[in-house]
Amino acid sequence: MKQGGIEEFLRLSPVMPVVTIEDAGIAADLARAFVRGGIRVIEVTLRTPAALQAIEAIARAEPDICVGAGTVLSVSDLHSAAKAGAAFAISPGSTLALLEAGRTSAIPYLPAVATASELMNGLAAGYRCFKFFPAGAAGGIAMLKSFAGPFPDARFCPTGGITQDTVRSYLELPNVLCAGGSWLSPADALAARDWARIEALASKAAASL
Ligand code: 3PG
Repeated sequence: MKQGGIEEFLRLSPVMPVVTIEDAGIAADLARAFVRGGIRVIEVTLRTPAALQAIEAIARAEPDICVGAGTVLSVSDLHSAAKAGAAFAISPGSTLALLEAGRTSAIPYLPAVATASELMNGLAAGYRCFKFFPAGAAGGIAMLKSFAGPFPDARFCPTGGITQDTVRSYLELPNVLCAGGSWLSPADALAARDWARIEALASKAAASL
């Protein structure tokens, strides 16, 4: 299965911005601001009509950052993400259909878990790397520490409720590959095209560990 490739993407930067883009026209500039700040990987959520176009634009215009598609809720989303040029795909949870499709998809697939049972299902399906979502609400650092006992081989990218103030504690956990979040692209900064502010947030995040 292709999940092997996902770990390389998750190790590109300690922090992965999770961005929701309303206007694909800003996607390349946003990606460049992250690159200037030292970030090499980004998740563009499939939550807007512009998302696939934004992924295409980043993949075409900014080779120094790897763009993944997030909020992949169906097998059809997974295929659309690959077709748009996403380097990998991420879900906020997992379904049997996605676990199955992700084993042979054109791009590496990262399912998410929030409980031990979901993790057992993912491991049984052959996966080793998972998004842990919603990290803050589902037990945060204590939960990841608890997972380490029974599931020593599982690796995580926690997202959901993480901030610059808490990210370091996540990154210090041995079973965490990187952490993600939307704090690096505040809606008002995107609306104002404030690339300097986003670059500054990225620099701080890139130096988190
Ligand atoms: C995600 O999809 O990973 C989350 O929306 C990111 O969560 P956050 O907005 O709390 O950082």
